[in-house]
Amino acid sequence: MLKIAPSILSADYANLGRSIELAERGGADMFHIDVMDGHFVPNITIGPVVVAAVRRLTKRPLDVHLMIHHPDKMIKSFCDAGADDITVHVEAKHSLTNTIAMIKDNHKKPGIVLNPSTPFRKAKPFLGKVDMLLIMTVKPGFPGQRFMPEVLPKIVAAREYIRENGLAVEIEVDGGIDKNTAHKVVAAGADILVAGSAIFGGDVVRRMTAIRDAAEGQGI
Ligand code: DX5
Ligand code: ZN
Repeated sequence: MLKIAPSILSADYANLGRSIELAERGGADMFHIDVMDGHFVPNITIGPVVVAAVRRLTKRPLDVHLMIHHPDKMIKSFCDAGADDITVHVEAKHSLTNTIAMIKDNHKKPGIVLNPSTPFRKAKPFLGKVDMLLIMTVKPGFPGQRFMPEVLPKIVAAREYIRENGLAVEIEVDGGIDKNTAHKVVAAGADILVAGSAIFGGDVVRRMTAIRDAAEGQGI
């Protein structure tokens, strides 16, 4: 069953409760929270205090995407703030094995993230230890960027590898997802769609319905 994870990066921060309520009404399965440190990516966004505030606004799972160097130093803070799963980049400065173990020690679900230019083979050694593989379809850092269709073969390769090896890993896709691109990533093998500007840039309920209808048109 396809899941949609609105990215609150494009929500109305003057009225976050309202944005979350509308997204829930539109059928949000979880909320995607983009954490950026100004070093790993050239932007600064959300910290644990905002995650804790969102935790009080919804019972849906909170999917925390850490675009930061040394994510290991922040795992406990984000777990304590109410994250349900935490995804960390293979390109960041840290020991991925240790960071995954820390997330599990905090009884949360770990996931790993691949930038558009990072080949799928970099994820393979870790797929037996994680619940999610997040594949970026834009260069991380900012909402509202153009979807990169050249990443589609990586989603297909990940789906095949996960099936062939009997792994229980969900494939999440993030960046430039809207009603025109959703069906492409679902056809390639995505289980979870992250969308920010396409959802919060207008009528939230109607836009979420349009994305789900377009995605499910692919027979999911
Ligand atoms: C990009 C973030 C995304 C972003 C998606 O760096 O990881 O989650 O919020 O925004 P849209 O859907 O506008 O591409
Ligand atoms: Zn993200």
